[in-house]
Amino acid sequence: MIFLRMHPDYRTGFSAGWISAIIASMKQLNFKDRWVVITGASAGLGAEMARYLAVNEKANLVLAARREDRMLALKEELLREVAVKIEVAAVDLTTVEGCDELFRKATAVGKIYALINSAGMTAYGKTSAEHIGMYQRIIDLNVRSVMHLSLLFLEYFQIQGEGAILNVTSEAAFTPTPYQNVYAASKHAIQSFTDCLRVEHRDRRVNICTFVPGGINTDMITDSGLSAKVDRDSFVNMKPDVAARKAVEAFKRGKPMAIPGILNKVNHALMWALPRRLKLAMAERFYRPPQ
Ligand SMILES: NC(=O)c1ccc[n+]([C@@H]2O[C@H](COP(=O)([O-])OP(=O)(O)OC[C@H]3O[C@@H](n4cnc5c(N)ncnc54)[C@H](OP(=O)(O)O)[C@@H]3O)[C@@H](O)[C@H]2O)c1
Repeated sequence: MIFLRMHPDYRTGFSAGWISAIIASMKQLNFKDRWVVITGASAGLGAEMARYLAVNEKANLVLAARREDRMLALKEELLREVAVKIEVAAVDLTTVEGCDELFRKATAVGKIYALINSAGMTAYGKTSAEHIGMYQRIIDLNVRSVMHLSLLFLEYFQIQGEGAILNVTSEAAFTPTPYQNVYAASKHAIQSFTDCLRVEHRDRRVNICTFVPGGINTDMITDSGLSAKVDRDSFVNMKPDVAARKAVEAFKRGKPMAIPGILNKVNHALMWALPRRLKLAMAERFYRPPQ
């Protein structure tokens, strides 16, 4: 009734807006022969997304991380299997110069169609002043570089008239996580940043999405020392190739926020429903480092 009583101009605007939103949500991204930039492509989820995009989607890739040898090996492996183009950018994304260099290199290879920010790091243990340097690097990589690259590429995509951004966050974006304190804060920041960016720019033909995994069986778990508490091979940690497939499939559909797997979905719903004090107490107990 309210709708019928609206002024015709509003009615048209309202329905046209909804129709274009529905059409946009039905329009899948098509990565074939298009350039996709992936950060964190030397290992873990980023490397697996690169594999999936090249082999299954026939995307051209710009692989970005610090370890050039690993990215060159991945490039060689993929080029043996599939006829796509792959460029490697060895950059340190904790620096502003590293982010600018990646943007410059990537946009010089061709028309970039999508950006995936997967590079990330965590640290496990009691939060203390002793580790301020490491926290700085976590913030620089997980927050500042993701904002920096998202904004540079968003502007580029808007000028081009199309494009897509996927920022990898974490279930830690929704749950305060003692003993991975700064990491969880960084993921809260990027989840919020990406959600706000999406609603601010919703009419610009640029898809802006997040992928929100729980644990994944990657080096991050061992490198951070978290494996002292949660076994890397534990069933709670998703296999990286499975997580990568789910990430790319959801990104293709332009899903604003994708949570992979039933376990993570249940955990997400539970964490949403529980009072914050209780969540914190449970998380502290779960992650408390072994003596
Ligand atoms: N593993 C999990 O349990 C889990 C859970 C939830 C969310 N995530 C998120 O998933 C994403 C991928 O993590 P992962 O599990 O794949 O971790 P990973 O296996 O440790 O890989 C991290 C990637 O980030 C890159 N990287 C680290 N420092 C960098 C720097 N300074 N400059 C450029 N690249 C850098 C690494 O490459 P180089 O070392 O070669 O630079 C590597 O390619 C992260 O955003 C993470 O927060 C992971």
